[in-house]
Amino acid sequence: MGTINVIDSTGESKKLEIDEGVSLMEHLLGAGYDEVPAVCGGSCSCATCHVYITNESGHLGDVEIQERELLEMADDYNETKSRLSCQIELDESHDGLEVTLIKSGV
Ligand code: FES
Repeated sequence: MGTINVIDSTGESKKLEIDEGVSLMEHLLGAGYDEVPAVCGGSCSCATCHVYITNESGHLGDVEIQERELLEMADDYNETKSRLSCQIELDESHDGLEVTLIKSGV
């Protein structure tokens, strides 16, 4: 089905298999990354699932207004790389996507 490449906050890289229809945030939680506490559970209200997309693959979906507002308040916001991982649903088109984790904070 494909894999995504995750670079954690220490710089270590790991590949995760894509589960179709599951959010990027759920993939990261399932793999045990504590950089993504995802406090609100994916309801787009906390920004603790903030990640950088450092090598885009597939269509990630548009950044909606609520996501944009949260991102702009987040520490380490980057206009071109920042996304909320709970707002990205993965499918096979995302094979090769690279995600860089940052220490969460808003
Ligand atoms: S988990 Fe809270 S905004 Fe994504």
